[in-house]
Amino acid sequence: MITSAGGWFFIETAKTSYILRIDETGHAEHIYYGSRIGRDPEEAECINGPRDVKIGDGTYQDEDNQFYFPSNIMSEYAAPGRGDTREAAIIAEYGNGLITLDPVYSSHSIYKGKKCTEAPAALSGEETETLELVLTDTAEDIAIRLFYTVYPEEDVILRSASIENGMDRPLTLRTVSSLQLDLPDAEWDLLTFDGAWARERNETRRRLSAGTASFGSTLGFTSSEHSSLFFLARPDADDRHGTAIGFGLIYSGNHLERIETSPFGKCRVLSSINQYGFSWELRKGESFSTPEAVMAFSSSGIDEASWSFHRFIKRYVSRGSWCGRERPVLLNSWEATYFDITEEKLLRFASKAAEAGMELFVLDDGWYGRRTDDTRGLGDWKVNTERIPHGLRWLSDRIHGMGLMFGIWVEPEMVSIDSELYERHPEWIIAIPGRKPAPGRHQYILDMSRSDVREYLMQSLSDVFSSGIDYVKWDCNRNMSDYFSSNPELRSCGELMHRYILGLYDLMAGLRERFPGILFEFCASGGNRYDMGMLSFMDQGWTSDNTDLLHRIAIQHGTLRGFPPYAMCNHVSASPNHQCLRISGLDDRFGLAAFGNLGYELDILALDEDGIETIRQQTEFYKAHRKTFQYGRFRHLPPDGGNLFWSIEGSDEIIVLEIQSRCDVNTGRHHRLVVPFAESGREYRIERREKHISPDALGDSCGKYEAMEKKPFRITVSGDILRSAGIALPVTFMGRGFYSGVRVMCDNSTDIFVITKLGRD
Ligand code: DGJ
Repeated sequence: MITSAGGWFFIETAKTSYILRIDETGHAEHIYYGSRIGRDPEEAECINGPRDVKIGDGTYQDEDNQFYFPSNIMSEYAAPGRGDTREAAIIAEYGNGLITLDPVYSSHSIYKGKKCTEAPAALSGEETETLELVLTDTAEDIAIRLFYTVYPEEDVILRSASIENGMDRPLTLRTVSSLQLDLPDAEWDLLTFDGAWARERNETRRRLSAGTASFGSTLGFTSSEHSSLFFLARPDADDRHGTAIGFGLIYSGNHLERIETSPFGKCRVLSSINQYGFSWELRKGESFSTPEAVMAFSSSGIDEASWSFHRFIKRYVSRGSWCGRERPVLLNSWEATYFDITEEKLLRFASKAAEAGMELFVLDDGWYGRRTDDTRGLGDWKVNTERIPHGLRWLSDRIHGMGLMFGIWVEPEMVSIDSELYERHPEWIIAIPGRKPAPGRHQYILDMSRSDVREYLMQSLSDVFSSGIDYVKWDCNRNMSDYFSSNPELRSCGELMHRYILGLYDLMAGLRERFPGILFEFCASGGNRYDMGMLSFMDQGWTSDNTDLLHRIAIQHGTLRGFPPYAMCNHVSASPNHQCLRISGLDDRFGLAAFGNLGYELDILALDEDGIETIRQQTEFYKAHRKTFQYGRFRHLPPDGGNLFWSIEGSDEIIVLEIQSRCDVNTGRHHRLVVPFAESGREYRIERREKHISPDALGDSCGKYEAMEKKPFRITVSGDILRSAGIALPVTFMGRGFYSGVRVMCDNSTDIFVITKLGRD
């Protein structure tokens, strides 16, 4: 709900309040963001207290407001030049290098829903309301519109801004933020999700200290270096307790996050399009709208804020015919074949996949044009008939005949020099005239700001997608360089990187409309462009090329911090793993991959009958619990004995994953499972999923294990016990004998427990 009275604005979700007001100088002042409190302006006055703090050598508003020091005011959208010397939400030049702005209240409106719901903008629901606050500069005809859209059930507030130029001369935007949040103190830890190829979204936690912590992407895409998702958490907060605020941008291009601790102990948070190389000229009457930013506050741990993100993305970001539907278990050809593709081999793969219970066969890179390795072929979206003589439609019919869906890989934004497309249109790549462009993976980027490029792609991809395609994996394998566009519609190269992303969105929207039934998965060298912007056009994302069990724990943990499990695609791959050569058991890899959207990516033809049967049992188990795995509520459980415990809760069950990185010996204790959210007055049945132990993992001892009497683990306990005391899990092998009921958990292993919610007292 959003209410206003006497210049005060109260924005409320089920559990949170956001309060701002127009202060005595006409500026929009931030008052509060946190657990829900009342809506009484008089009471709220005491939150920031009287204006009676003097700042030595500070610039103040005017002689009538000698206690008004902009550098110490919590503002809603800070502009430079009038005393607030902290990081600015907006920097815009309006001639002769002038950047000083003084935006003050002009008008506001509160309305149901929101103005824009066209992707990537979030959708609106029945309870969605928006506050639109218009601020105008005191001297120039420049207006800033701030949008606050509330999603009460999800405890999410969506933020964005739009800047309008009413002046006769141009206004050039250099920095423009989607979100500014000023907080009264800086006693926070900052959690960011960082990495590189094959180690995406690894969580980093650090205490805020003096100055600005800033991170973002200048790669042209969201990047795996730093996600635009981040959290502030009180130093004593963890997954299950304490205060945390999550932030994220619905945007797929360069972004910048700044978290500043001021000299007076306040904290300013800004999420923006990255100012790196960005400049955007607005002529009279033109406006610029920022991407939308999501904010979610939790007073009961980081997991609760993540749950707000998951619910929000499911209801308001994801859209289309796959929204809310269970996603098929797939086999992807990449790590099985790389570029070595034949029609006959593909059919054998698909047939084995069907036998093992999979539902979708995905033909990855190497099926088109001259693409026999990664130096050629990109851009020519026509089947290579030397490799697939009967064509895509024929292949698709055969695969459909096996009861499988058929999917295909494309990388539309790229071109190889060795391609028909480049021979015809060298001017379509992003390159600076007179300068040799920098390659990445031997390829170059098509200028997506150009409508002719998008038209070509729309046509050639439509031809492919009309050949019996049920699923598309949309890849993007290099970062941007040589920022120049030959598109005459651009006023300067400073527009290129944002216009590129807008062009990409336009193409994806067109294809989505034309092929509403296709299941789309985004990918960018693994998870280099993993963001809510992509999720508003595509149904799910390839998380990382790294499928090693141990590395994947951090990657999936970081991804789940902000993204729902149905969007997080995980593949069971080969052992030794192709990224780090680590060995792990097939059922151990399955355990982690099942926590999300399951697929396989290995040479299934190399597996013996036992391997196929193990996978068949995995897919059977996964499908029986798929709704929980893909749409359940993810939470961390208390770790124990060095092991991690993850849970995912569906309407009638909770599935628990125990993850062991290292097998400890002679610890003398059972591992303990505690489920803090188990309900009092309810009974729970806990069963272990029996694992197939791979001979690789156990070497000589496997015979002993195989011979041992297996004791299924199945108990029923009260919610009180499960929540407070926890239960002792079956003993793990730790240096002493194989005897009845011992669980074998080697290094890098997982174990799954299914907890069924039984009746209430
Ligand atoms: C990078 C992706 O992340 C991989 O899964 C695979 O599709 C390759 N590209 C193919 O070139």
